[in-house]
Amino acid sequence: MIFDTLKPKIENILDSSQRSVFEKMTQVCETLQGSLPTYNWVGFYLANEAERALHLKAFAGEPTAHTVIPFGKGICGQVAENDANFVVSDVKAQDNYISCSINVKAEIVIPLFKNGINIGQIDVDSHTPNAFTNKDERFLEWVNSKVASLL
Ligand code: SME
Repeated sequence: MIFDTLKPKIENILDSSQRSVFEKMTQVCETLQGSLPTYNWVGFYLANEAERALHLKAFAGEPTAHTVIPFGKGICGQVAENDANFVVSDVKAQDNYISCSINVKAEIVIPLFKNGINIGQIDVDSHTPNAFTNKDERFLEWVNSKVASLL
């Protein structure tokens, strides 16, 4: 299973002492986007509680205009408020959705918890409809738990 081969790579990136935390997060995004054919855009947003907004801190894929997302807006903003995984098999079926690219068909957003508090999220966009399963959820929860230990 590809996720099992990726886990040690992710651990190596995060264990490296040479890089800043945001450089490591960018490298994690690049590794996921480069290794998983359905992961066409991968990013980490972190929450600014005072602003009630998410800020894009690291990503791989096409640059997005949506570097700041208010809580409640789009899939990402809903996850900031609801603390729950959000798996979207068809983005066209979502009313509260922010489009980054007309090519995106599916999306998965997994909250990132630090000491039980939702401090951000990993967001993956796919050009493949219905791209994500509960295996992606478990894997991305694992990725977030590892990243959380650095934040
Ligand atoms: N589609 C997201 C916005 C972020 S982009 O996917 C990079 C949303 O609806 O929140």
